[in-house]
Amino acid sequence: MTWSAAWVRVRALSRPRWWPWLVWCAVLGPGLLVAAALLSDLLRDTRWLGANPVKEGELRLGTLTIQYLAAALAITPLRRWLGWNWLQRDRRTFGLAAFCYGLAHFLWYALLDLQLDLAQLGTDLSKRTYIVVGFAALLVMLPLALTSTRAAIARLKARWVKLHRLTYVVPVLGVTHWWMSVKADVGQPALYSVLFAVLLGWRWWHARRDNSLHATTTPARAGSH
Ligand code: HEM
Repeated sequence: MTWSAAWVRVRALSRPRWWPWLVWCAVLGPGLLVAAALLSDLLRDTRWLGANPVKEGELRLGTLTIQYLAAALAITPLRRWLGWNWLQRDRRTFGLAAFCYGLAHFLWYALLDLQLDLAQLGTDLSKRTYIVVGFAALLVMLPLALTSTRAAIARLKARWVKLHRLTYVVPVLGVTHWWMSVKADVGQPALYSVLFAVLLGWRWWHARRDNSLHATTTPARAGSH
């Protein structure tokens, strides 16, 4: 079989029956592993999360938030490239997973790291800018998560599209929060900055191309310039 015939076959693949299971395992698996490792470390002193399980778990949940954001943003370019339109519905799942991991990351920090010390939370918010930026990222994700249902899409119509443009702000805030929080090794935040620059750049380029195609195919209205 030639490469082009193989590519045609790949593009013609329909959604396998096991696909939703794979997506759910990809979304829930890492979170369950972090929770299980924490429980085992706290109850049996196994040190799966290293010497400081609370800090390590907090960092892992933060990284997972960024990774699911990247997965959600990668769905559309992948769908177009592979011709797999059925991938689109997974975008919402990955977006919601990013929000849930972001919320878990915040709750972990508030409950396990700060032990619900609200005075310390206030101090952190006033003295550590990266915490404010993380908060802002989570706050922006909240309305996106709340309006991710079919009913909300149908109700908000064009306003939904406008609101969901905020999706592009979240990775910028998330990666800024990461850059500001790291002390020495900037390799990982640098890598994700490049990845998000590529994903957001792709969207910008496509939106411009679609707009100019639309402008050339729509007949000019009489009297308009
Ligand atoms: C209320 C919201 C948030 C709070 C209070 C918060 C707090 C923190 C804290 C305390 C750290 C550890 C910093 C350190 O000691 O090195 C951290 C790291 C991190 N956070 Fe957040 N964060 C929040 C939201 C977010 C969101 C929404 C994202 C993603 C979009 C995110 C991504 C990360 C990442 C990637 C790291 C670093 C992980 C690593 O170094 O391996 N955080 N955050």
